[in-house]
Amino acid sequence: MNILLTGAAGQLGSELIPLLSAYGKVIATDRFRPLIPVDDFAELDIGKTGALDNLLDRIKPDLIVNAAAYTAVDQAESDVDTAFEVNAKLPADLAAWAKQNDAGLIHYSTDYIFDGSSAEPYREDDATGPKNVYGESKLAGEQAITDSACKHVILRTSWVYSSHGKNFVLSMLALARKGLSLKVVDDQRGCPTWARNLALASCGVIENWQQNTTAGDSGVFHYCDDQTLSWYDFANAVFKQAVNAGLLDNEPELTPVPGTEFPTPAQRPEWSVLDTQKIENIFKIEAASFDQALEDVINEILTREQKV
Ligand SMILES: NC(=O)c1ccc[n+]([C@@H]2O[C@H](COP(=O)([O-])OP(=O)(O)OC[C@H]3O[C@@H](n4cnc5c(N)ncnc54)[C@H](OP(=O)(O)O)[C@@H]3O)[C@@H](O)[C@H]2O)c1
Repeated sequence: MNILLTGAAGQLGSELIPLLSAYGKVIATDRFRPLIPVDDFAELDIGKTGALDNLLDRIKPDLIVNAAAYTAVDQAESDVDTAFEVNAKLPADLAAWAKQNDAGLIHYSTDYIFDGSSAEPYREDDATGPKNVYGESKLAGEQAITDSACKHVILRTSWVYSSHGKNFVLSMLALARKGLSLKVVDDQRGCPTWARNLALASCGVIENWQQNTTAGDSGVFHYCDDQTLSWYDFANAVFKQAVNAGLLDNEPELTPVPGTEFPTPAQRPEWSVLDTQKIENIFKIEAASFDQALEDVINEILTREQKV
């Protein structure tokens, strides 16, 4: 089958490239060529008129995996149109094409569509209530896909990181290497998720679709790795692992602080924890180990640095 992958140069897209090729011919797209080697790449700037239609008509994908997203949460507050163009209009257009052409669509969304006032892990059918423009734009994307009635899976996830790209792990390591003592927010909790585990969950969905084993094969599902942490806990885990692996000499001094110490343009939910029971029940996809994921990511960073 022909697989169209958008956002191929992003954290998730880069993990998807090698994995998706087991299921068909992957045509990877993004604004820029990914660092990961890819046989077939087509440049796609999502805002450019006609670019997407031309690509879809040329490739005629059987499966679309939409890893493209506007993920600059604070910037989205003042760049609303672009956030909605990428996070809402693109999924709407992909879903309309998928419906018309009988293709499947795998799309990704976020814990930030919830307001974070719960004390329980969020289930797929809990009430939404985004606190920021990014969350609103991602929710609009979800709704457009659901309304299109194309064959789809929307995987909501949280706190994505990997050994490349812009993410919390790499930011913390960079700060620690400056020898600074660090203050990290301790009153926002979520489930850090390795982009590769999210990519593997996507493969699990494809395999279920191929085997046609499940009745409820379209809809919204939550996937995240298996631990709930605050940003402070996450930073602690990163530094411990980095010292164990020899990536850092010492753990930096770390102080837990409330989110109010770091005012940001976008408000963030205090509780971003997702319940993953539905994806386990329907697709038999289990939340992967956070400890193992972090160890693997730190080792990847170490290996890359040793090569330089
Ligand atoms: N990162 C997180 O913590 C997080 C948390 C929850 C959910 N998610 C969701 O998980 C999915 C994957 O996230 P990720 O972390 O892999 O995101 P990412 O690393 O930011 O990757 C997104 C990709 O989309 C591309 N893109 C953005 N605007 C574009 C445009 N106008 N034209 C073409 N390409 C464009 C980006 O290119 P540029 O870099 O050039 O802009 C980037 O390569 C997204 O749906 C995201 O909303 C992420």
